[in-house]
Amino acid sequence: MQKTSELIDNIPLLICTLDLDYKITDINGYFAKATGFNREELIGKSIFKTLVGRTELLETTIASIKSRSDSVSEIDVVVHKKDGVDFPGILGAAAWQEKESGITNIGLAVMESTRLENARTEAEATNKELVRKESLKDEFIAIASHELRTPIQPILGLALLAKKGQISQEEAWDSVLKEARRLTQLANDILDVSRIENGTLKYNFAKSNVSEIIEYVVNALKTSELGREIDFSIITDERARKTYCQLDRQRITQVLMNVIGNAAKFTIKGRVEIMARVDTEKSRYDIIVSDTGGGIPASVLPHMFKKFITRSVGEGEKHGSGLGLFISRAIVTAHNGAIYLYNDDEKRGATFVIRLPFEQPSSQAPAPSD
Ligand SMILES: Nc1ncnc2c1ncn2[C@@H]1O[C@H](COP(=O)(O)OP(=O)(O)O)[C@@H](O)[C@H]1O
Ligand SMILES: [Mg+2]
Repeated sequence: MQKTSELIDNIPLLICTLDLDYKITDINGYFAKATGFNREELIGKSIFKTLVGRTELLETTIASIKSRSDSVSEIDVVVHKKDGVDFPGILGAAAWQEKESGITNIGLAVMESTRLENARTEAEATNKELVRKESLKDEFIAIASHELRTPIQPILGLALLAKKGQISQEEAWDSVLKEARRLTQLANDILDVSRIENGTLKYNFAKSNVSEIIEYVVNALKTSELGREIDFSIITDERARKTYCQLDRQRITQVLMNVIGNAAKFTIKGRVEIMARVDTEKSRYDIIVSDTGGGIPASVLPHMFKKFITRSVGEGEKHGSGLGLFISRAIVTAHNGAIYLYNDDEKRGATFVIRLPFEQPSSQAPAPSD
């Protein structure tokens, strides 16, 4: 019973009961909230002080249901508020006779029209968003399947050429392996994107030392094909080396592998600098990756974190799926961090900043390993 009266009080409808002289005998909490009048100001007053505009029609309607113990719904009314700003509503009314006492009760419920209007606008917006998402999904599937086919063709072609003896086995294997790696990377990226988009990418957060991850990534890149001609340098201080962040080690490694890998990939020959910096006051850990490559064309810059962006000029075949930065941003955002970029005029190349929140040094000691 308690629950029912709470529900009636809070339901977003102005509910009241009237006596036969149209005087208010009871109201729900929402009635007072919506009109700004308190209970005392309303009880015993004529309903037509609150429901204004076309009151004659209203009066005859209520009179007719009163005589027949009937009900009506959907009558347009204007609700008068204490602050003078009236609002439109839709009224439903019912009259019924109490069996024992024979007293006739009249009950009114008014819904604010704006609520209906809002609900309709909201539903329309949701609908539009669904249509938009659906067409984005279609586009994604179309591009992804095209991209997936791209490495398959050369794999088949090379295998065929090697089989016919037209190219050496070694040449074929090298290229097949390269394309197969590209295909695996692409398949993984597509899987990540679909997990990000349907919210099923899971994170395992744990206290981790970021500068260790940076070192791991740089070492891996140094010995890879991408980093062979790159002069990598890591700039950290004692504080940055000792700071631990709450993060998913594997996923942040993936982000750094992409961002530092991009810097190497689009620099070809030159310098890639990784600076780790902590701001204790703002509790943030910045990883700044800058390169001496060609930078990013101004026309592409605002679109860098979208899917399938691979349009940095003059890089020919170098690009990958163009999903790396989209995935990187999603991962960093899931860490309550941020990622942004700019062209560094002084160094000529691009600069990416990955910003992660971190734990204060006092609580940074790693758990003793056993
Ligand atoms: N450091 C950089 N310098 C120049 N262009 C870059 C750099 N990093 C990223 N880009 C551009 O952004 C595009 C998207 O990067 P990303 O999403 O990682 O895709 P991918 O590496 O698969 O091409 C790249 O193809 C390249 O055109
Ligand atoms: Mg990349």
